[in-house]
Amino acid sequence: MREIRSETIIKIISSVDELTEQDKELISTAESMLKRAYAPYSHFHVGAAVRLTNGEIYVGCNQENASYPLCMCGERVALYNAGANRPDVPVETLAILVQNQKQPVPEPASPCGACRQVIYEFEMRHNHPIRILLKADGKEIYEIPSGKHLLPMGFDSSFL
Ligand code: THU
Repeated sequence: MREIRSETIIKIISSVDELTEQDKELISTAESMLKRAYAPYSHFHVGAAVRLTNGEIYVGCNQENASYPLCMCGERVALYNAGANRPDVPVETLAILVQNQKQPVPEPASPCGACRQVIYEFEMRHNHPIRILLKADGKEIYEIPSGKHLLPMGFDSSFL
């Protein structure tokens, strides 16, 4: 019998005060995107911002649709925005902020399965890990070193 093991490391940072200036800026940029979310159906706002290895920041927020399956997550909007503007520059860090208009969200929400697959594709494409920072209404920030930690046995182009 053989086993395939994978690990998920989530570092819990007690508040934004402990972040570097660069990370503070990325979190506050993602936070500022919460108000631009188009979420009239779920009332769940997601603001995202990515910092590329060249220092540039690209933003996104969730975009809902009356035809529910067409809704697009905020982190994917941010990643595709970066991919469209700077196709050759790896993503260094992705910050995702969430806010529920109906109730407080004390703990960070992690990316949905589809977003994990997209994060993984960006990592494979650029051969570069994407650090993920998550925050909700509480003070804590969750830091995950790479999208790979959220997607064991991810599907990639090596199968094609
Ligand atoms: N959503 C995101 O933007 N990111 C996620 O990772 C989870 C869910 C959005 C999609 C939809 O607009 C709303 O949150 C409720 O599912």
